[in-house]
Amino acid sequence: MAGGAGFIGSHLCDRLLRDGWFVTSLDSFVTGSAANVGHLVGNPLFSMRVGDIRHPVDWNGDLILNLASPASPPAYQRERMLTLTTNAEGTRNLLELARQTGARFLQASTSEVYGDPEEHPQRETYPGRVNPIGPRSCYDEGKRYAEALVVAAVAEWGIDARIARIFNTYGPRMDLGDGRVVVAFIGCLIEGLPLPVFGDGSQTRSLCYIEDMVEGLVRLAAGPGLAGEVFNLGNPDERTILELAEAVQQAAGRRAAIEYQELPHDDPTRRCPDITKAMERLGWAPQVPLEEGLKHTWDWYLDQHARQ
Ligand SMILES: NC(=O)c1ccc[n+]([C@@H]2O[C@H](COP(=O)([O-])OP(=O)(O)OC[C@H]3O[C@@H](n4cnc5c(N)ncnc54)[C@H](O)[C@@H]3O)[C@@H](O)[C@H]2O)c1
Repeated sequence: MAGGAGFIGSHLCDRLLRDGWFVTSLDSFVTGSAANVGHLVGNPLFSMRVGDIRHPVDWNGDLILNLASPASPPAYQRERMLTLTTNAEGTRNLLELARQTGARFLQASTSEVYGDPEEHPQRETYPGRVNPIGPRSCYDEGKRYAEALVVAAVAEWGIDARIARIFNTYGPRMDLGDGRVVVAFIGCLIEGLPLPVFGDGSQTRSLCYIEDMVEGLVRLAAGPGLAGEVFNLGNPDERTILELAEAVQQAAGRRAAIEYQELPHDDPTRRCPDITKAMERLGWAPQVPLEEGLKHTWDWYLDQHARQ
């Protein structure tokens, strides 16, 4: 697994190991950390390699999962060239590896390929509305190019590759400083700071708990006859940022003032997946209600904070 020491990757490692797979994590630690997989060291089914997918990769196995890419706006805006080349050269290297070894391939793409969409909720058929020179372009266009590579590799090399368009996912092990809304609110509640809300807080987010996302990715990786297919994976339960601020406070049992801040000009106003295809073809739908997922997440961060 490329990106196995990241937020989603480390949870996917946990799950695959529980299912009895041998798992190798390849990660450069540019945004992930060894701590995310520290609990797995010593597990005879697990090995961890430090490396960069932008260089050719030597490995043999049945399944290649490509989760390697900075994923949060502050992280990819700090590392624009790395983000573009990781998604371009890195994805190409891993597809070459799938071609050589005959492994199945799963690409972690993103709802950001839809850009600033005019269709709500977004279906897989929506081609997207992306600004190639905007502040998010290194990520959006990198991921779009990676998807094009995947479908080209399926068509020309006959490999079995699938694409997951992942929508906002949250849970333990997200980087507290990465700017995404749930951890931003949790960090503030832990420190006793006001909760920052951009604009009037009426913009929406649809948040998927990590356990549900991992289940969706496993089903997409395991299902037969899915070469070249693209699936939205996310939770269609859409909430405004103000509703989310309230839900995080409820989960934490703590309250804080709201601090309204200027809306960044690239802040998406709505993001919501249409998951009909995943429901019909993978038999998958999120099971964890927002309130429950937020409670697990809060408890984990509070425990981490207490250990420091
Ligand atoms: N978390 C979300 O809500 C979300 C939403 C949409 C898509 N995704 C996608 O899911 C994947 C995982 O996201 P995440 O939230 O776990 O992010 P993350 O930053 O926690 O994990 C990404 C991992 O990839 C590693 N990495 C980055 N570039 C690399 C390279 N060139 N070589 C080797 N390792 C490299 C990082 O060190 C990190 O461990 C990403 O591809 C991301 O685009 C995530």
